[in-house]
Amino acid sequence: MIGAMGYEHLLVDVEAPIATVTLNRPRVLNALSPDLIRELTTALSELDADDSVRAVVLTGGPKVFAAGADISDMADRGAVDQLRRDQTGRWAPLAGFSKPLVAAVNGYALGGGCEVVLMCDVVIAGETARLGQPEINLGIIPGAGGTQRWPRTAGKYVAMEAMLTGQPIPAQRAYELGLVNKVVPAEVTVEIAKRVARQIAEKPPLAARMAKEAVLKAFESPLSEGLASERKSFYFLFATEDQKEGMHAFLEKRKGVFKGR
Ligand code: HXC
Repeated sequence: MIGAMGYEHLLVDVEAPIATVTLNRPRVLNALSPDLIRELTTALSELDADDSVRAVVLTGGPKVFAAGADISDMADRGAVDQLRRDQTGRWAPLAGFSKPLVAAVNGYALGGGCEVVLMCDVVIAGETARLGQPEINLGIIPGAGGTQRWPRTAGKYVAMEAMLTGQPIPAQRAYELGLVNKVVPAEVTVEIAKRVARQIAEKPPLAARMAKEAVLKAFESPLSEGLASERKSFYFLFATEDQKEGMHAFLEKRKGVFKGR
C-alpha cells in the first residue's frame, strides 16, 4: 500500500520542527530492500531540504528496527553486480544527512539495520533492542560501515566480538558499551526519541549542523582509511586478467595487451 507521502515501505510524519520516519515492512522485519533504501534516502533528502524540520527521528516501530539488508535480494548476486549497483554506496545520503538524526530502536537492529543505527547521532533503545552484525553467518562482512563505526564507537574488542561471533548485544549491555545513549521501556522509545529531537530542534540549527559535523570529523582517520582502501583495491586487482597479462608480459619481455577485464 502506498502511504500519504507516496512511500510504500516508509511512514513519514512531519510535526515541525521534527519529523519521524518509520521503516514499514513488518512482514520481513523491515528488511532493507533496495526499494526501501531508495525511499529512505529520498525521504531524508526531502527532510534535509525542508527548513521547517530541524531534527528527525528514525525508527522501525514498536517491535523491530530492521533485521538487515534484504537477504532474498542479495543471495544470488555476484561481486561485479554488487560493485556496479553499488549497494551500500546508495546509503550515503543517510550518513550525509545534515540534521540531527535520533534513532528509536526496539527489537532487532541487525546487519544493515545496525549500521543504520550507527549512522544516527543519538540512539534511544527500548529494553527489547538487540544490536548485532550477524553477516558472518551468511559468509559476508558488514558493508555499510559496520566494521568502521563499531570500533570507533565501542572499541576494537567489542567490535571484533560482534563481527566474529555474530551475536547480538542486548540493550542494557549496548548502553554500558556506549553504543546507545539511553535504555527506556519499549512502549515509550519513540516518544522519548521525539522528546530528544524536540529538545535539539530548539537549538540554533546551524550550530547543531556544525556540532554534528565536528563530532563526525572525530571519526575520520585519513591515513589508516586510505591505506585500508588502497590495500583492498591492490588485492582486488589480482582478480583481473590485466594484472596477469601485465606481470607475465614483463617477465616475457614483451608489451602487455590490456582488455579492461
Ligand atoms: C530478508 C528477512 C530478513 C532479512 C528476516 N526476514 N530477516 N528477509 N532479509 N534480513 C524474514 C524471514 O525470512 C521471515 O520471512 C520473516 O522475515 C520473519 O523472520 P523470522 O526469521 O521468521 O523471525 P524470527 O524467528 O523472529 O527471527 C528473527 C531474526 C531472523 C533473528 C532477526 O529473522 C534473522 O536472523 N534474520 C536475518 C538477520 C541477518 O542475518 N541480518 C543480516 C543481513 S546481511 P518468511 O517469509 O519466512 O515469514 C546485511 C548486510 C549489510 O545486513 C551490508 C550492507 C547492505
